[in-house]
Amino acid sequence: MQRSVLVLAAGKGTRMKSRLPKVLQVLGDKPLLGHVLDTARSLGASARIVVVGHGAELVEQAMQHETDLLWVRQEPQLGTGHAVQCALPVLPRTGSTLILYGDVPLTQSDTLLALLGAAGDGLALMTLEMDDPTGYGRIVRVDGQVRRIVEHKDANTAERALREVNTGIMAVDNGLLHELLPLLHNDNAQGEYYLTDLVALAVARGVTVHTVQAAQDWEVQGVNDKLQLAQLERIWQKEQARRLMLEGLTLRDPGRFDLRGSLTHGRDCEIDVDVVLEGQVVLGEGVRIGAGCVLRDAWIGDGCQLQPYTWVDGARIGAQAQVGPFARLRPGADLAENCHVGNFVEVKNSQLGPGSKANHLSYIGDAIVGARVNIGAGTITCNYDGVNKHITRIGEGAFIGSNTSLVAPVRVGEQATVGAGSVITRDVPDGQLAVAGALQKIIEHWRRPSKIKS
Ligand code: UD1
Ligand code: CA
Repeated sequence: MQRSVLVLAAGKGTRMKSRLPKVLQVLGDKPLLGHVLDTARSLGASARIVVVGHGAELVEQAMQHETDLLWVRQEPQLGTGHAVQCALPVLPRTGSTLILYGDVPLTQSDTLLALLGAAGDGLALMTLEMDDPTGYGRIVRVDGQVRRIVEHKDANTAERALREVNTGIMAVDNGLLHELLPLLHNDNAQGEYYLTDLVALAVARGVTVHTVQAAQDWEVQGVNDKLQLAQLERIWQKEQARRLMLEGLTLRDPGRFDLRGSLTHGRDCEIDVDVVLEGQVVLGEGVRIGAGCVLRDAWIGDGCQLQPYTWVDGARIGAQAQVGPFARLRPGADLAENCHVGNFVEVKNSQLGPGSKANHLSYIGDAIVGARVNIGAGTITCNYDGVNKHITRIGEGAFIGSNTSLVAPVRVGEQATVGAGSVITRDVPDGQLAVAGALQKIIEHWRRPSKIKS
């Protein structure tokens, strides 16, 4: 059956106090609207239609990568019913439509499939029992059957006492939409065309209106301000943490865990507090990630240990490697197994062979380093001449003394040794010792100055 998803996203979101339209505020790894569109795709929607108004250009631009969306402009915004009316020309006459909201990001596919099932060729509403239903549309039932929805502002005292509210999310037969939407009027407290009036119109046609309750409250929570955005972000993070822990991941504190992307992991991985994971992160077996690490698009091999406050971005770390604390691996860093990269070491676009070590205070950029190389503290690859980047090659088993500058392009041979403090501008042959800069002199007969008495 044809299944369209219609997302209402024309509202302004004044309470965000932001330059961005509300639906572009970010939750997890993407804008609120991105979550809704992903859910719509997972339902196998034959069409995804988005109604935009406020900040329409910005919203369309931000979603450029979604190539199959149908955009509908709603100018001016005359209410939720008017928003759906604007989309009527692009809605098929058969099948059904699921109406979602760009600022309600976390509704789960299973819940929506249940709603679509309940609607059949009629209408189904997602509702919620609330202790404090103030502001929401109330579901009015007679003998248990849904009759209509009354908006808070239009409701009398008895109606305001009803605790079953309209979440706004509904599934409707397209024939019914085409037939009833043109009948809406704006004769109400807000002077708006209410989508909710569809319910009474359908009931008058003899349609039975079904309801489905969300499994969790947060599935139907909307976001209006930064406070609600942060609350939903934490709910979402705890939900991801819960799923990962049930898969066997150890999280020292699921309340201090942030995944903004996807994580796959082997058995017995452990993540300490305040770790942020972005993009696609892959952990092998038995990986331990220390407190405060940030990993983005990272591949981490079996048994690796990342000490606290390590930043890994677009890098690959081989099995049993040890990195950090306070290390920075930038895009293209590729560490083979058993490497050690220690504090205040930055590695960019470089390969380190198996067992190589750079334990302290170094910059390794555009370098190809063989196996079992020891890079002393303070070693720098001078890869940039102000115009171009050049490559440094260090052969297997080489030893680079502390505080060495390797001026690329340059090659240090296998088993070669470089004396501490050297500025290496020419290739060092295999197995040789290179010492550059002034060699130590002993000044004989030198005396310390003595204090002049005044
Ligand atoms: C709406 C429902 C109410 C429900 C509540 C749940 C109506 C008349 N009322 O009320 O029953 O309890 O949601 O949150 O539907 N929008 C447009 N174009 C418009 C107006 C709104 O695209 O002209 C979009 C907004 O961007 C927003 C959503 O529709 O995402 C809801 O609009 P809002 O004005 O917040 O509706 P409520 O008054 O909260
Ligand atoms: Ca609202």
